[in-house]
Amino acid sequence: MSISSDDFNYICQLLRDQTAISLEADKAIRVERQLAPIAQQAGFSSIEELVALLRTQQPNELHIQVIEAMLLSETSFFRDNYPFEALKKVLLPQFLKQRLSERSLNIWSAACSTGQEPYSIAMLLHQYFPIFAGWNVRFIASDISGEILTRAREGRYTQLEIHRGLTAAQQLRYFQQQDNEWQLKQQIRQMVEFRQINLAAGWPTLPLMDIIFMRNVLIYFDVATKKAILAKLRQVLSPDGYLFLGASETTITLDNSFEPVYFDKALCYRLRR
Ligand SMILES: C[S@@+](CC[C@H](N)C(=O)[O-])C[C@H]1O[C@@H](n2cnc3c(N)ncnc32)[C@H](O)[C@@H]1O
Repeated sequence: MSISSDDFNYICQLLRDQTAISLEADKAIRVERQLAPIAQQAGFSSIEELVALLRTQQPNELHIQVIEAMLLSETSFFRDNYPFEALKKVLLPQFLKQRLSERSLNIWSAACSTGQEPYSIAMLLHQYFPIFAGWNVRFIASDISGEILTRAREGRYTQLEIHRGLTAAQQLRYFQQQDNEWQLKQQIRQMVEFRQINLAAGWPTLPLMDIIFMRNVLIYFDVATKKAILAKLRQVLSPDGYLFLGASETTITLDNSFEPVYFDKALCYRLRR
């Protein structure tokens, strides 16, 4: 099934309107590949028929299905490892001291995909900082996609997904086999509260965050959207909190209120003092 340039432009616009993601012009083949099974499943003989119906209707379930199919949810446990090393070696020990009187800590994994990122942090907290179990730790993980969040909440992963970032010891300690998959134990899953948040739309009221991971999502947005998201992050990040972006993302040139900070090889950002 192939897609005309007109229909491709419509899908690009739909995605931009609903998620702020800008698809590059050379992604028509990917769009075809993702739309063909949806068209088939919905009983259409071509992508053209599917798009013709989408055009005539107000955004509904079918539009959501199409949008969700376009989202790139690539992720892995302990992805790019350095941020997790910085948490373990510097930031969590630092917050243990700084927040000792209130005994509270707020963490947000924004655009968390299928959960590997927040669960990596949760396992790290559990393994190395059991003392936080007696604190008021609010750990929010969010994504735009309801379907992705359902997977994240279930915490079920294939052997291949487990292999990407976890040691055999971590697998044995934190997962139990369920048919052909591995499910993260309830004690870790329950540490994370999953919520549906579109970063490009209005955000719900969130507590001031000590640690924010917003990695590998800004790359999909245009400059104006990135700036708008960073402006909102300024309001949500605690004055002594830290923001981690993806390895190819930065606040530099976008928002001068953040300053870069290195902890060994981990780069993160805090609000300029
Ligand atoms: C490449 S994954 C990144 C996952 C994880 N943060 C990491 O670095 O491994 C990008 C995620 O961003 C989500 N996403 C895309 N547009 C979004 C938006 N407007 N608001 C919130 N999440 C969005 C996608 O659904 C996807 O799960």
